[in-house]
Amino acid sequence: MRALAREWHVAGETIGLVPTMGALHAGHMSLVAVARAETSRVVVSIFVNPLQFGAGEDFERYPRPVESDLAMLREARVDAVYMPDQATLYPPDLSTRVQVGGPTETLEGVQRPGHFEGVATVVTKLFWATHADRAYFGQKDAQQVAVVKRLAADLDSGVEVRGCPTIRDADGLAVSSRNAYLSPAERAAALSLSGSLRTAAKMYAAGERDAGRLRARIQEVLAAEPLVRIDYADLVDPSTFRPPGTLAVLAVRIGKTRLIDNHDVSKPFLADRNS
Ligand code: PAJ
Repeated sequence: MRALAREWHVAGETIGLVPTMGALHAGHMSLVAVARAETSRVVVSIFVNPLQFGAGEDFERYPRPVESDLAMLREARVDAVYMPDQATLYPPDLSTRVQVGGPTETLEGVQRPGHFEGVATVVTKLFWATHADRAYFGQKDAQQVAVVKRLAADLDSGVEVRGCPTIRDADGLAVSSRNAYLSPAERAAALSLSGSLRTAAKMYAAGERDAGRLRARIQEVLAAEPLVRIDYADLVDPSTFRPPGTLAVLAVRIGKTRLIDNHDVSKPFLADRNS
C-alpha cells in the first residue's frame, strides 16, 4: 500500500482515504463520492478494528460481507482497497497506542472506555500506510470527526480531515451497519432518534434557545418509545464535545443494539429543509 501511494505522489496525484469497517452502505459510498470529487486517487480501507470494540460489544458478530463490499467499490471505481489483516496492523509486540485528550473526555468517550484510543491508533496507522492527503469521515459519528481532527492537527499529520453529511433513509433513520440488527418493531422505535432531532430543530427555528428545554424535549420524544433506553442526550460544541453548543447528540439502546445520531439544531433537519 505504501509503495503504491509513494508512486502516486511522485506522479503528482492526491490521495483521498475513506476508512471503513466494511458492511458498506449508502453512508460509506457518499464519502467515496466526495473523495472521488476532491482527490485523484481514492483508497478505501476495510478493517474491523478490534481495538475500538469494548468487552461485550459486537466485534464477533459485526457483519463482514467482503465480496459484496468489493463489488460496490469496484462499481464506484475506487483506485485501491486496503484490507490489512489483524496480524499486519497488530503484531504481538505492538506496544504503541494513540491517546487523544479533549473531545474524547465526554459522552462516547465516557460510555465506551478505550473506544477512541482504538480509533485514534488505527486511524494513525491508516494515515501512514496510505500517505493520505485527505481523509473522509461521516458526521454520523460526530465525536469521531472531532477526535480525528484533533489527532491530525496535534500530530502534525498533514492530513486534511473532512466531515461529510449524514446519509439517512427516507424516513429519517441514519443509515448504519448496525441497523441490520433491528427487528421491524425496533426499527420503528429507532425513528424516535431522528424524530427527536427534527423536533429540536423546529423548536430552535421557532426561537427556543434554552439548552435545558431543548434537551428535555429530545428526551421526552425518546422516552415516548418504550423500546428505547437513553444512554445520553445532550447539546454540545462540535469541536470540544462539551456544552454549551447547538449540536444535539444522542445515544440509545434498543434491545441489544446501540444507536447514535446527532444534528446541529440551529440548522433545518433534512426533509424540513425546503418547508
Ligand atoms: P464505520 O462504522 O464503517 O464507518 C466508516 C465511515 O462511514 C465513518 O466515517 C462513518 O462516520 C461513516 N458513516 C457511517 N454511517 C454514515 C452515514 N449514515 N452517513 C454518512 N457517513 C456515515 O467509523 C468507523 O467505521 C471506524 O471507527 C473507523 C473510522 C473506520 C476506524 O476504525
